Amino acid sequence: MNYKELYQPAHTIIGKGCIQEIPKHIDTIAGKKALVVTDEGLYKIGTVKKVTDVLDRAGKPYALYTGVKPNPTVSLVNEAKAVYDREGCDYLIGIGGGSPLDVSKAVSILAKNGGKIEDYNGLDKSKKSGVPLIAINTTAGTGSEVTRAYVVTDEVRKVKMLMVDAHCLSYLALNDPALMVDMPAPLTAATGMDALTHAIEAYVAKSHFPFTDGLALEAVGLVGKSLQKACENGRDMDARTDMCWAEYMAGLAFSNAGLGMVHAMAHQLGGFYNTPHGVANAILLTYVMKYNLPSCKDRYADIARALKIDTSHMTPDQAANAAIDYIEKLAERIYIPKLSQTAFKPSDVLTLSLHALEDTGMPENPREATLVDVQKVFMDAYYAK
Ligand SMILES: NC(=O)c1ccc[n+]([C@@H]2O[C@H](COP(=O)([O-])OP(=O)(O)OC[C@H]3O[C@@H](n4cnc5c(N)ncnc54)[C@H](O)[C@@H]3O)[C@@H](O)[C@H]2O)c1
Ligand SMILES: [Fe+2]
Repeated sequence: MNYKELYQPAHTIIGKGCIQEIPKHIDTIAGKKALVVTDEGLYKIGTVKKVTDVLDRAGKPYALYTGVKPNPTVSLVNEAKAVYDREGCDYLIGIGGGSPLDVSKAVSILAKNGGKIEDYNGLDKSKKSGVPLIAINTTAGTGSEVTRAYVVTDEVRKVKMLMVDAHCLSYLALNDPALMVDMPAPLTAATGMDALTHAIEAYVAKSHFPFTDGLALEAVGLVGKSLQKACENGRDMDARTDMCWAEYMAGLAFSNAGLGMVHAMAHQLGGFYNTPHGVANAILLTYVMKYNLPSCKDRYADIARALKIDTSHMTPDQAANAAIDYIEKLAERIYIPKLSQTAFKPSDVLTLSLHALEDTGMPENPREATLVDVQKVFMDAYYAK
């Protein structure tokens, strides 16, 4: 195959105040009634109202579903879909971080394709494009507003299913940093490290190509410049705006190149213990980088340069290690916990590792991992080696 298909939303708007543009896009898709999918927290702090005020002023009808929880489950998706049907909706507006946006994508796919959401676990399993989705991002972030992926926890098997499917791409992706100023520092830190993980995994993924390389390196640079600032001062609009671009570009990069072993393992912590996704990635990132190093040290050296580390007197090995060291220190400065401070239990490591090997993210990892390798990386992270 000598061609590449690019996956991206039909429209994107990024910048302070961009939610004002929503009504004209509703007119374009001729949307009659939206299901607004969000979570209770965002409803209570008034973030949802900022968007519904725009809909109210423009006379756009909608029903509200505020029941999304972090690491959303199959039953939660079914509940949201039942509201969508009962209310006679014909398109979706997701407001939130990855969890509400992923539920919106799942409902969008079910509304057009029927069946159970478990049927769509894996790569391109649906037949038809979902109903139109306006994805309004509030964390920076998962990149869910831009990606062709969504994640749903199978609560029976305690596994996070990663669906990669071009049919779930949003019609309109919105990133308004003004919606992000209320993110507390730990959430800013965790979601920012998720974005960094997307960029790094995309940069070293087996399927990377020049388009994704450019996006990934620029995203890494912006995280290096602004994540700590956004954690220290949530009202720093320049830092929030940088993080919007970083998470969007990192999302676009991995949506086109793929993920890797960090996500394959992090999904298990989310599915088994409900560990927040960004925290799980942030904890595992440098341990997986150390494991992958023999397969991609030149690429890690590029990441060091993107982080503005002066590598001019370093060997590729030293530069790659400098990148890992930088990220370890960044994680400490923004108070990312250690694996031993989470619900992880060493006695679960075999099950977690078996599931990680089956994760949709694993095949793109630059180094082929065995069961023993995955177990060792979990345990290295646990003992903070
Ligand atoms: N679709 C994808 O491409 C993709 C990629 C990575 C992760 N994910 C998935 O996304 C989910 C994680 O999403 P997330 O990390 O964005 O968090 P989240 O959506 O689970 O939200 C976590 C908490 O943050 C709060 N919150 C969100 N925005 C806020 C804001 N602006 N101000 C204050 N509080 C706010 C929410 O109310 C919630 O309590 C996981 O299920 C993960 O697997 C999806
Ligand atoms: Fe992620």
